[in-house]
Amino acid sequence: MTQSAFAVVIAGATGNLAKLKLVPALQKLFDQNRLGPDPLVIGTGRREISDEDFRNRFDLSAPFADNFFYHRNIRGIKQFMENRGPFERVVFFLSLPPAAYSDTAREIAAEGFGAKASIILEKPFGYDLDSARKLNTELTRFFDESQIFRIDHYLAKEAVLNMLVFRFANSIFEPLWNGRFVESIQINAIEQRQVEDRCEYFDGAGIIRDMVQNHLLQLLCLLTMEPALSLDSDDIRNRKIDILRVLSLDKFHRFQYRGYCNTKGIHPKSKTETFAELQMSITNSRWVGVPVLIRCGKAAHRTGTEIGVRFKPLPRILYNSNGSLEPNCIIFKIQPSEGIVLDIQSKIPGSDNGITRSSMNFCMRDSFWGDIPEAYQRLIHDALRGDRTHFVSARELETAWDVVSPALEQSDGDGFPELYEPGTLPVSRLALRWIDFDNYFSECCR
Ligand code: BG6
Repeated sequence: MTQSAFAVVIAGATGNLAKLKLVPALQKLFDQNRLGPDPLVIGTGRREISDEDFRNRFDLSAPFADNFFYHRNIRGIKQFMENRGPFERVVFFLSLPPAAYSDTAREIAAEGFGAKASIILEKPFGYDLDSARKLNTELTRFFDESQIFRIDHYLAKEAVLNMLVFRFANSIFEPLWNGRFVESIQINAIEQRQVEDRCEYFDGAGIIRDMVQNHLLQLLCLLTMEPALSLDSDDIRNRKIDILRVLSLDKFHRFQYRGYCNTKGIHPKSKTETFAELQMSITNSRWVGVPVLIRCGKAAHRTGTEIGVRFKPLPRILYNSNGSLEPNCIIFKIQPSEGIVLDIQSKIPGSDNGITRSSMNFCMRDSFWGDIPEAYQRLIHDALRGDRTHFVSARELETAWDVVSPALEQSDGDGFPELYEPGTLPVSRLALRWIDFDNYFSECCR
């Protein structure tokens, strides 16, 4: 019998997620010797497939391919696994439609996988607060919360992880990180892509459910949370919950790109928003009075995610006597290039007192030449080690649903979103000025 450390079971292993993300991430982890001495990967699904056909679906190295097996259905997997050796940990990745989560969790539990097993799930986790609660209740009938790993892949992006390091491993920014110095916080997450092959899901969800409730609120929490007592997962997740509990939605506007309703698979009178802008407030002593703007959507003029912290303007004295100096900004570039830009004013050489905006750039790819790992690599490895820091807890999830509820009620109601042209940003209806994030897009980075 072989002695294996980790076993990964992919339920729904013939789907796209397994092919595009999970298996490539497992291959990388295997190459880095992070899967233990002799890992086992089992794909499972309703279809009958031979081990060989299963292996041939992926781009696997020869030694790793030998560890791949296919087992039809979950029933019988325990025995199948036991024939191959004891495992330190067994992780089930449910790469399935969410409607199948509860039944699959029940089947896994019925197979007798006890405290050593974990389940990893992808969003959507519910459709609103009630359905998310219901799903959490159903899952915890079979697994303890500590065994449930809810993925938000934004939490494992290297540039996102670096935000915590930036905040808590540098002493110079913390004194400024509050409403005394910060004028606004702005999150910009736009994509050139339209809805493509995910029409049915997207039309039933809209961008607020698809991106804001999860990825973007998570980014906001990491940017604004209080220092955690330790780096333990519960300490970090509890500080994020503290933010969500005092976060409220003040204004929001919904937009839809022209032509969306003519897309095959989209309801011809769909009211689903493909773009949204939101203004929020965090009512705690650090952030009270600092507006938080979030904007995100599809069919924009470019693809990129940036977070801006805009500082208060200088008083109208000295170089700013006519009020023309732009306030300083810190921009976290999350993707497509990862980095941090600190905007400063500097003298134009040769001029008397000519001043221009310049920037101090940190570019992750220029500073670290190795591969920047993909989010799934990190997440699978963390789940195998039982580290839940970068996964979403049931409470975080439910509190985040609560925050966006007013916007969901409207999108599920009668209101039609305002139209915008594909390839452009909708005109903002907010009174506050957005940072010109396009300025930072091309700066730095290979
Ligand atoms: C997914 C959304 O969660 O995130 C998609 O469902 C979106 O609509 C995607 O395109 C964006 O992820 P990334 O990593 O490409 O920014």
